[in-house]
Amino acid sequence: MSNISVTPLSNACGAEISGVDLKNPLKSSVSAEINQAWLEHCVIVIRDQDLSDIDQVNFAEAFGQVGDYLRPDTLRNDAMKDRHRSVMFVSNIVENGEAIGTLPDGEMMFHTDTGYAQNPHKATTLFAIEIPSKGGNTIFSNQYKVYENLPKRLKKLLSGRNAQHAYEFGVMVKDKEFYNGPDVRTATHPVFRVHSETGRRTIYVNELMTESIEGLSAEESREVLKEIFALQKEKQFCYEHVWRKGDLIMWDNRCTLHARTDFPKKQRRLLRRVTIEDSTPNTAA
Ligand code: SIN
Repeated sequence: MSNISVTPLSNACGAEISGVDLKNPLKSSVSAEINQAWLEHCVIVIRDQDLSDIDQVNFAEAFGQVGDYLRPDTLRNDAMKDRHRSVMFVSNIVENGEAIGTLPDGEMMFHTDTGYAQNPHKATTLFAIEIPSKGGNTIFSNQYKVYENLPKRLKKLLSGRNAQHAYEFGVMVKDKEFYNGPDVRTATHPVFRVHSETGRRTIYVNELMTESIEGLSAEESREVLKEIFALQKEKQFCYEHVWRKGDLIMWDNRCTLHARTDFPKKQRRLLRRVTIEDSTPNTAA
């Protein structure tokens, strides 16, 4: 048996894992235990770590193939060109007149990472390097629970339907109903999906990227999405993480959404992101 312990962080989702130092290679029995806790709690937090780019990539690789940076190369600045192809910085820091990361300041609407791709990445790891004194919290919403609590009327209306997703790189708060243009990525996904590993049903729409539900009138689609987005924000389905330097979080993009709270513009925030590809299809529920 390993020394790790798993402590739930809320009734919605999230668990803290302690007793592991991610600078050392993970034994396969330990990564299997972490994977099990992650599938059960959807989001895991491992505190007090000191991780280089490669340590984080090695950790992510224990759970699948690390995902390529999907943004256009024009959004990858010179400093990033020499780093591992999977590393992306989420940051508001500007050095020599150039932003060192993406998704810089302020609040971010609920979304799932790479949902604009036809085969979205199953997981995201985010490691805290510099954290503001207040705010910039990441809120996770459990989409198994949102699905379970959806009114029967909506389950019936949306069963078997697809939704259109679009994302313009760098956008944090959706301010247009429909996006198009050279930097916009689009994909179609079933509204209800079966999680490829747990077999549980989830809802797969989000406020930042989902534009419409196929087969409904524009007005009905707008109203239905508004109702779902309100449910996804209910506190009973959410865990809000207050970051500390040295926190590593891994979340499951197949069954959670995440959003970010506002934080002081003048304070530095720097997190390193590495995602993990999905090798098994998530089928329509
Ligand atoms: C992200 O959406 O990947 C970033 C979340 C955050 O900045 O807290």
